[in-house]
Amino acid sequence: MLSEKSLKAIAFERSKYPQEEARSALLAALRIAQEEQGYLRDELIEYVAEILGLPAIQAFEVATFYTMYDLKPVGRHKLCVCGSVSCFLNGSDQIIGHLSKTLGIGPGETTADGLFTLQEVECLGACKDAPMMQLGDRYYENLTPESLDALIAQLRGGSEDVR
Ligand code: FES
Repeated sequence: MLSEKSLKAIAFERSKYPQEEARSALLAALRIAQEEQGYLRDELIEYVAEILGLPAIQAFEVATFYTMYDLKPVGRHKLCVCGSVSCFLNGSDQIIGHLSKTLGIGPGETTADGLFTLQEVECLGACKDAPMMQLGDRYYENLTPESLDALIAQLRGGSEDVR
């Protein structure tokens, strides 16, 4: 179900912890599985649990709790807008509203062309630069409708190296 490369990566993560602490490798193992397959379908979550020798329910508990795990296919660009207190007080609802209007989708939805998924997430630890969002492994802070428009245009133009 997973490539040799992913299985090796999971084994490496598992090797960092004592024998009785397989659960400690679960976050990383799920991330590796998702990176390879795009999202975590039920069978894949069960498979990751099996690899680590854990009850499947433990893997489901983790996979369904954290928003970084996708339980269904997502777009090429997943826009994770923080909606927690600092961001909310600084206009995250307007940011989400602007993205919804621009992309024609609501939180939790993906555009028909498969390019964008919009998601509202909990605090990402960049509160002082609220409102903010995560896209891939980058944070975009002090968001405004204008900065979002520029970013969306770049992404629609095929740029992966957006700042
Ligand atoms: S409240 Fe948005 S990053 Fe903390």
